[in-house]
Amino acid sequence: MKKIEEYVRTIPDFPEPGIMFRDVTSVLQDPDGLKLAIDSMIKLLDGVDFDIIAGAESRGFIFGMPIAYALGKAFIPVRKKGKLPCETVSAEYDLEYGKAEIEIHKDAVRPGQKVVLVDDLIATGGTMEASCKLVEQLGGEVVKILFLMELAGLKGREKLAKYDVASVITYEGK
Ligand code: PRP
Ligand code: MG
Repeated sequence: MKKIEEYVRTIPDFPEPGIMFRDVTSVLQDPDGLKLAIDSMIKLLDGVDFDIIAGAESRGFIFGMPIAYALGKAFIPVRKKGKLPCETVSAEYDLEYGKAEIEIHKDAVRPGQKVVLVDDLIATGGTMEASCKLVEQLGGEVVKILFLMELAGLKGREKLAKYDVASVITYEGK
C-alpha cells in the first residue's frame, strides 16, 4: 500500500521560482489517495470531543466536509468575503501581496460549542489564524486544528501556538 506522501505531487518553481508547490489534486484524483487522506485526518481526531468542523474556502471545504459527514458532525463554511447571505462576522489576514477577508455566519457557532478547524495546508498560518478568530468571536472554542500538510519552514505554527495543531504530513522546507 502506498503512503499518503506518495500521492502528493510536488511542482518545483510554482507559482514562482524557489517555491515547491505541494499539489493535493493528485491525492484527490486517486480513490485510494482520497480515502487515505481523509482517514488519516480522521485518525488525528481520536478522542477529541467536538460539535462542529469548520473549513476555509476552498480547499478547507474539500477536506473538512467528508470528515464532518463521516463523524456525524456539522460543517461550517468559512467563506471569502461577500458570499454569505445572512449576518456575518469577518476577519482580515495578510497575503503575500495585500490582504484578504473571510467570513462566517453569525448563527453558525453558538457560545460554548467545540470547533475543529480543517484545511489542506498550513503555510504562514494566516488563513487559519483568521478562521480561529471568527469562531472565537462567536464564543466557540477551537479544540483542534487539522491539516493534511504542513510547510514547517514557514513557521505557521507559531501563529497558532495556543491551539492543539496536528498535520498528517510535515515538509521541513517552505
Ligand atoms: C491555500 C491553502 C490554505 C492557505 C495556506 O489557500 O488552501 O488555505 O493557502 O496559506 P497560509 O497558511 O499562508 O494562510 P488559498 O488562499 O490559496 O485558496 P484556496 O483554498 O481557495 O485554493
Ligand atoms: Mg485555502
